[in-house]
Amino acid sequence: MTHARQHLTQVVAHRGASEEAPEHTLAAYRKAIEDGADALECDVRLTADGHLVCVHDRRVNRTSNGRGAVSALELSDLAALDFGSWKSRDASGGPRVEEPDWEHRPEDREATSVLTLERLLELVSDAGRRVELAIETKHPTRWAGQVEERLLLLLKRFGLDAPTAAEDSPVRVMSFSARSLHRVRAASPTLPTVHLTQFVSPRLRDGRLPAGVRIAGPSIRIVRGHPAYIERLKQSGHQVHVWTVDEPEDVELCVRLGVDALITNRPRAVLDQLGR
Ligand code: G3P
Ligand code: CA
Repeated sequence: MTHARQHLTQVVAHRGASEEAPEHTLAAYRKAIEDGADALECDVRLTADGHLVCVHDRRVNRTSNGRGAVSALELSDLAALDFGSWKSRDASGGPRVEEPDWEHRPEDREATSVLTLERLLELVSDAGRRVELAIETKHPTRWAGQVEERLLLLLKRFGLDAPTAAEDSPVRVMSFSARSLHRVRAASPTLPTVHLTQFVSPRLRDGRLPAGVRIAGPSIRIVRGHPAYIERLKQSGHQVHVWTVDEPEDVELCVRLGVDALITNRPRAVLDQLGR
C-alpha cells in the first residue's frame, strides 16, 4: 500500500534549543534532540589552526568566559573556555538568576565546552533517529574557500558530502554568501544549499535564487512584510526555510504560507503548537 507523503513543516533548532540552554553547546543540541526537533542549525567558523567550531559571533566574548576572535584562537585555547555559565546570568550580565531555566552542571564539562562540528556530527549520527543538520558558513569570504573545503572534507568522513539526491540529504549548507554556496555546489552538486537573506532584493522580489540554489532562507521580517514574495518562491518550486520563528503568530503565518522549515530557538514550543 502506498501512502501519500504529507507536507510536514520541519522544526529546526536554531543554535540548538537555545532559548533554554547555552547556544551552540552540546547541552543545547542534546536538549533539541530530546525535544523532538527535526533538524539542528549551527554556525561554523574556522579556528586559527583550521578546526571548524560552532560559534555564532566573530569573537567569543558574549558566549564564553574568554575574549578574542575565533579566527585568532586555536582549538586548545577555545577548549579551555566555558561556553555555558553566561546563560545562567541575567541579560544585563549581572549576578546569577535564582532559578535559571537551564541547569549548569560543571561536572559535565563537555556539555558546555566549545563544540566542534565533528562532535556535532557524531551526536547526530548517534541520535537513534533521523536528525538533519543545517550548517551555516559564517563570513567564509575571509577564508577564500577554506571553510567550504574543510566542511566538505569533514562531511566526507561521515559519508554525508555527496547524497544521491538533494531531497534525501540529511545535511544542507546555508549562507548569506552566494559565493560560499557556489563553492559548495561546485564540489558537491547534490548537497542542498540555502541562500539566507535578511533584506529584500530584486531577486527575492521576483521569486529567484542564485543559480543552482533550491532553498530560500528569508528572515521572518521579510515573511511578515512581504508574504507575496514567499508565495512566489513556492510557486517557482523553491523550498522556503524561515528564521527565526519564535512567536506563535509567526508560526501560524509561516504554516499558512506553506513554509517548509521553521528555524526556532524554541523547538519544543513550536512542535507543541504544530500538534506534534
Ligand atoms: O538560520 C539562519 C540564521 O541563523 C541566520 O542568522 O545571525 O542567527 O546566524 P544568525
Ligand atoms: Ca545561523
